[in-house]
Amino acid sequence: MSKIFAVANQKGGVGKTTTCVNLSASLVANKRRVLLIDLDPQGNATMGSGVDKSELQLSSYDVLASLLPPRKAIVPTASGYDLMPANIDLSAAEVELLEMDGRESRLRQALEQISEDYDYIIIDCPPSLNMLTVNALCAAGGVLIPMQCEYYALEGLSSLIDTITQVQQAANPNLKIEGILRTMYDPRNSLTGDVSEQLSEYFGDRLYRTCIPRNVRLAEAPSFGKPALDYDRNSKGAIAYLALAGEITRRHAAGQSSNQNSSNHNSNGSRPVAEAV
Ligand SMILES: Nc1ncnc2c1ncn2[C@@H]1O[C@H](COP(=O)(O)OP(=O)(O)OP(=O)(O)O)[C@@H](O)[C@H]1O
Ligand SMILES: [Mg+2]
Repeated sequence: MSKIFAVANQKGGVGKTTTCVNLSASLVANKRRVLLIDLDPQGNATMGSGVDKSELQLSSYDVLASLLPPRKAIVPTASGYDLMPANIDLSAAEVELLEMDGRESRLRQALEQISEDYDYIIIDCPPSLNMLTVNALCAAGGVLIPMQCEYYALEGLSSLIDTITQVQQAANPNLKIEGILRTMYDPRNSLTGDVSEQLSEYFGDRLYRTCIPRNVRLAEAPSFGKPALDYDRNSKGAIAYLALAGEITRRHAAGQSSNQNSSNHNSNGSRPVAEAV
């Protein structure tokens, strides 16, 4: 049962940050103690949580590059979760880490100091399979992969899955795919149904039942520095992320970790993507 989730997909704009911010707020609404770690130099999770990335005293950069005790960089948010913020400084860490000992496990070391303080730790990864994402994968127990149901959706997953496999072999044998989340879901689009079916076939019960619809409130909320739950709690987007938080907490309560993999066979006989993990 993992409680540290890396939210990763090297494809840009698939809803990683939206998922991190809204899932964090929704887990808080379920009375869970949550830390959101912004591990993207774009700082979108920071801004979307109502924290100004241009005024940070300390950030995830200091934790990774200087081994700053993480509690010093963590700030509370108005939505009830804690945030380890980030800004463009973090892009320097990508380069600096390459020279450092234990460069993949700097975040993991840091989180050992605080993991007891939280029920869930959610890590927002950049859209790249760089050293920042590798640090997130080494620290995490599970990877949550947001994806849009597009034609090339599965093909784009293979390099992420290769990276996950490498991290499993080299540094973090316990790493699992926690779940695949369909984002910006539009059931009226027939392609969505086809891709959804393929995802279900490949990933079995690791595909979350909850789908996040395309919803304008989710797109508007970050400009107010709020999760959708605090911006328009009756919006379809806010309700969907509450449902996702419910699904995740129920899975954990039932002790159903996502490595239960009852249906990763594939009717056309080719090697299933999920077989690699
Ligand atoms: N379900 C949704 N409905 C409508 N808009 C959405 C939804 N999810 C995300 N968006 C919007 O799509 C854009 C990309 O989302 P987001 O920033 O969460 O993706 P990302 O994967 O974190 O991007 P990046 O790879 O750049 O970090 C944003 O403008 C966001 O507001
Ligand atoms: Mg993002």
